Amino acid sequence: MTGWLIRDYSQDDLEAVVRIATESSTTGEPPLFQLSEAVAALQAPHPAVVAVADEVMIGAAVSSVEGDRAWILRICMSPDWRNMGLGTALITALEHRLFAGGVRTVHAALPEGETGAAALRNCDFDDRSGLVFFEKRGRVTPQAVGMLSSLGAELPAGGLWQKVAGMQREKALIERRLVLPLAYPELASQHGVEPPRAVMLFGPPGTGKSTFAHAIASRLAWPFLELFPARLAAEYGLATGLNRRFDEIAQLHHVLVFIDEVEEVASARSGADATAVGVVNELLKAIVRFRSQDGRLLVCATNNVTTLDPAFLRHGRFDYVLPIGPPDHSARVALWESYLERAGAEADSEGLASASEGFTPADIAHVARTVSQAQFERTFDTGTRARPTTDDYLNTIRGTRPTVSSTMTQEFADHSERFARI
Ligand SMILES: Nc1ncnc2c1ncn2[C@@H]1O[C@H](COP(=O)(O)OP(=O)(O)O)[C@@H](O)[C@H]1O
Ligand SMILES: [Mg+2]
Repeated sequence: MTGWLIRDYSQDDLEAVVRIATESSTTGEPPLFQLSEAVAALQAPHPAVVAVADEVMIGAAVSSVEGDRAWILRICMSPDWRNMGLGTALITALEHRLFAGGVRTVHAALPEGETGAAALRNCDFDDRSGLVFFEKRGRVTPQAVGMLSSLGAELPAGGLWQKVAGMQREKALIERRLVLPLAYPELASQHGVEPPRAVMLFGPPGTGKSTFAHAIASRLAWPFLELFPARLAAEYGLATGLNRRFDEIAQLHHVLVFIDEVEEVASARSGADATAVGVVNELLKAIVRFRSQDGRLLVCATNNVTTLDPAFLRHGRFDYVLPIGPPDHSARVALWESYLERAGAEADSEGLASASEGFTPADIAHVARTVSQAQFERTFDTGTRARPTTDDYLNTIRGTRPTVSSTMTQEFADHSERFARI
């Protein structure tokens, strides 16, 4: 009754799997996982099996594994081979591989009555009838994407927030003060909390201000739009340029606007000449206007908070003025661990954190990159996979001068006292 052979998927099978996936549905209902997701899982590769009869592919089951959970993304069969036990055979072969690989739970979700549902029941998958499947579509429509790109805005990659290593204190503060009220505006308003509209991040170079700005946008799934005052100045004159840009920005439903090195346009010193006074005023007016709309956040960053025009930091413009300082010991441990994992290195993260006191995330990134590049080259030269050791990192740390001197650290502590509003 069988007449088929089940084997692991191989890269040459892709075309055939896609063909079967498109002809397999019995209900015509859209599946939970897009075909592109199944293809990405096949290419990753995640476990997948195919069934072949007379050298023709007749079925496939595709999974995606994350930690100890797996999803079955596709169970597909050629229409001629339905109701013959093929689905059960495919799922059995796939789940063997998954459980043997350390997976503890396998999930599948299908439209009611879809191909594969009977096979899942045959394989003792429980029907979780009490579960309701929720789904929310992203806020950004394809038309909006066109508009975003014409404005120079981009949709940030997902998961950037999770990639911010260490910096627990700053992360917690940003999450509570900024992200939560913006992500849950109704709950915030029930508590009389006005969602924040603008925040100033200050701190020495390389501490992660730009990284946080991107991560907040990613966390909120809002488009990210960076304003480059120097470009605006060259194109239209700064005041006109700012006005135009903020008019355009007002048309977007959701957006995080980022201005890096904002002291260039908002410094007290530049206020000495008349045109610059005009610029600071223009920017302040733009912020007031920006604040009147929902669904947006202005993030400004500066390495030099003391030079900002005091009018800029007065209440009513920025909801928070947050210090982003060099990472402490535990934040450095977390940073090192994230880079060690990426490099496949087993090195002493505690030791590296101690040796890199005073280093910013940028300095640590620089050391990690230098070591990785050297190992990569060594692998090529020797023909065997080189792995960095703790000493490789320590030597590179010794040869690296931290960007932030101890004087700057002291100054930062002092500025935090004077300027921070958290
Ligand atoms: N918390 C962090 N976790 C991981 N990498 C970080 C972190 N903070 C900064 N980096 C990395 O350090 C570098 C400098 O960060 P950046 O955000 O540009 O600093 P700043 O804007 O404060 O000058 C970037 O390569 C960034 O990816
Ligand atoms: Mg920056």
